[in-house]
Amino acid sequence: MKLNNFSARGTTVALRTADTAPTTAARIVPIAKGDDGLELPVTSLAPEGLLDALSSLGAKGGAGETLRLLIDGTVYLTTGLGNADDIDDEAVRRAYGVAARALGDIKEAAASCEFGTQAVVEGLLLGSYKYAGFKSENDNSPAIVTVVGADQDEFDRAVAVADSVNFSRDLVNTPAAFLYPEAYAGIVKDLAEEWKDEVDLTVEVISGDQLAQQGFGGIVAVGKGSKNGPQLVHVSYDGGGDKHIALVGKGITFDTGGISLKPSANMEDMISDMGGSAAQLGAIVAAAKLKLPVRVDAWLPMAENMPSGNATRPGDVITHYGGKTSEVLNTDAEGRLVLADAIARACEDNPNYLIEAATLTGAQLVALGARTTAVIGSDEFRDTVAEIGRGVGEPAWAMPLLEEQEEELKSPVADMRNVHNKRTGGTSFAGLYLSKFVPEDVEWVHLDIAGPAWNGGSPYGYVPARATGAPVRTIVETISRIAADQV
Ligand code: BES
Ligand code: MN
Ligand code: ZN
Repeated sequence: MKLNNFSARGTTVALRTADTAPTTAARIVPIAKGDDGLELPVTSLAPEGLLDALSSLGAKGGAGETLRLLIDGTVYLTTGLGNADDIDDEAVRRAYGVAARALGDIKEAAASCEFGTQAVVEGLLLGSYKYAGFKSENDNSPAIVTVVGADQDEFDRAVAVADSVNFSRDLVNTPAAFLYPEAYAGIVKDLAEEWKDEVDLTVEVISGDQLAQQGFGGIVAVGKGSKNGPQLVHVSYDGGGDKHIALVGKGITFDTGGISLKPSANMEDMISDMGGSAAQLGAIVAAAKLKLPVRVDAWLPMAENMPSGNATRPGDVITHYGGKTSEVLNTDAEGRLVLADAIARACEDNPNYLIEAATLTGAQLVALGARTTAVIGSDEFRDTVAEIGRGVGEPAWAMPLLEEQEEELKSPVADMRNVHNKRTGGTSFAGLYLSKFVPEDVEWVHLDIAGPAWNGGSPYGYVPARATGAPVRTIVETISRIAADQV
């Protein structure tokens, strides 16, 4: 099977379920900080005397703390949950994520499920993810972890979701020379074909002259500075039911800024500027694997934002899908231009919900830091999705649409301008711009993941360096709740 240029993938531990731990396997044992010192909240994999041994070693049970002990020929790897009173799913995911990364040369391990199959499995699969890229020497033969006492259905669902997060991470981690728009669209087509027994997805790609002919002026304008032409990828999944959800994700495979060129410092991080589209792909694959009873259509505009003799200029006016016009005053505010087309197209099919994700503004990082998604949209749905994000361990916070920015959006020569040239409220301004392409009767949410999509620092909890896979789990959980009539 030809996999285009998507040969470098991350690796994780391999999971299997069993009733008992193999005798030779290292035991992963969670420990916690109690009021009166160290606690062993679950004991199924712990030997007699472990607590005393740990105490004498000075173990505290704090989050992030791991220790290895050899007792009677068996290795025990302890991982801290933090305060015993505050143990929730997120603490468990983090502790098992940290443990998975601490396995090192341990090739066989066991974990038990007293704290919930889902949290343990997600922690292990998300935390162990390692992307070695194109290193010529790669000694990474992943460990096998036996999960003891798992609920099998919950195990299968957690694996489906975690695999989708890691798939999204793989796409985002892939350098732009391998993941340019045509290659990206090809990968989506090839994988849908390869996975067709497990997931029922339909893929349609609009590219070349078709884009201009069908009126996608925003996608054409952003893509035309590059030799690697833009693409609009449409992925659908129909699980029945009467709910229709549209997903839209920013797919800028590299963002130089275009003629409004970015400074060179950290420009390499702009390989992650397709993180919104990668998250939507992960989400629709998960929805299909979980056979959620909803109809989902993902619209993913892909373009490489490059400066060249054929690039869009500041001052140009473009016509979006559906006829609205934008004055492009800054070619680095390109995400909103491609999203406008994709949103307009997605809404033509009258979805009940629109979930859109994009690495859209540096202002998101200024407002909320690097890990918290900015959530803008219809009042109620926005708050629901922000809460869902916090619930699954993907921090998210609602941000307003600002009345005073209506004036700032006005252009003398077009329906709107793409930037307001102010230092204030950049994330909200981008949200207001996008809102003009969403019909009144669609429940809409925009997730600005400029910071959360990429971890430029060290791994923490179950989040690796580089691509994080955010906000796949937020979107999957939102789709699940809509399917279950809980939104
Ligand atoms: N892709 C960037 C946003 C971004 C910045 C993502 C940092 C991840 C990390 C986006 O296309 C962009 O360049 N936005 C501009 C908008 C400005 C010109 C109004 C920005 O935020 O500076
Ligand atoms: Mn940009
Ligand atoms: Zn961008």
